[in-house]
Amino acid sequence: MRTTQSDLQKMRDAGEKIAILTCYDASFAALLEDAGVDVLLVGDSLGNVFQGEETTLPVTLDDMIYHTRCVARGSRQAFIMTDMPFGTSQVSPEDTFEHAAELMAAGANMVKIEGGSLMAPTVEFLIRRGIPVCAHIGLTPQSVNQLGGYTVQGRTGPQAKLLLDDAVALEKAGAGMLLMEVVPAALAARITRRLSIPTVGIGAGPDCSAQVLVLYDMLGIYSGKKARFMKNFMVDANGLRDGVERYVKAVKAGEFPAPEHAF
Ligand code: KIV
Repeated sequence: MRTTQSDLQKMRDAGEKIAILTCYDASFAALLEDAGVDVLLVGDSLGNVFQGEETTLPVTLDDMIYHTRCVARGSRQAFIMTDMPFGTSQVSPEDTFEHAAELMAAGANMVKIEGGSLMAPTVEFLIRRGIPVCAHIGLTPQSVNQLGGYTVQGRTGPQAKLLLDDAVALEKAGAGMLLMEVVPAALAARITRRLSIPTVGIGAGPDCSAQVLVLYDMLGIYSGKKARFMKNFMVDANGLRDGVERYVKAVKAGEFPAPEHAF
């Protein structure tokens, strides 16, 4: 039976950590879920690690549909979350719905949308029409040209307050999960305490309800510079499956991320 959004909510409510990895193909989808990964994120990071692009901006809706289909074919039990690529959610709520519906038809169980409270009306529009949404705040790679690089977000008091307000607005709009990328651990912990939906961290400290890593970073195949929040779980592993199991075990035990991975 496939994991549902309400299963993830129950895990969060029971204090069980949720293990997430990105996934782009059928073979890894089967391996990852067999090794205990709860959620497969078809991330637009495929632009970097799969297509060799410098940013996620060139990734198209057709690319995301194709990779979602591949992952869905290989998977039977994990929850599948798919990124809405650049340009497909920054439009009207009606057009966003059409794009999201194509991803859902390809096998996604939830779409992920980058952006803060500005996206709340779009989130609400999708939720009311049956499309679960994970909101993504903090470092939002689709806005790299505006952010001026892949830097820690929410460090100052006013920036932290903006992110907290964004999180509250997005939950109120109906987001089923909230992902925080590269924000101080203390801020992510505060937002996690404030919300009642599961929070997902990447470079956001140990207190989020879930953790995610880009699969290739977890495997030690770094496409660029190794960032502080990444960890190669293959170092002591006896093969791929063992490496993934080590990641899942470390997330479930609250051992990953360790202080050296946080900001
Ligand atoms: O695209 C992706 O892989 C992501 C993660 C970095 C969270 O959104």
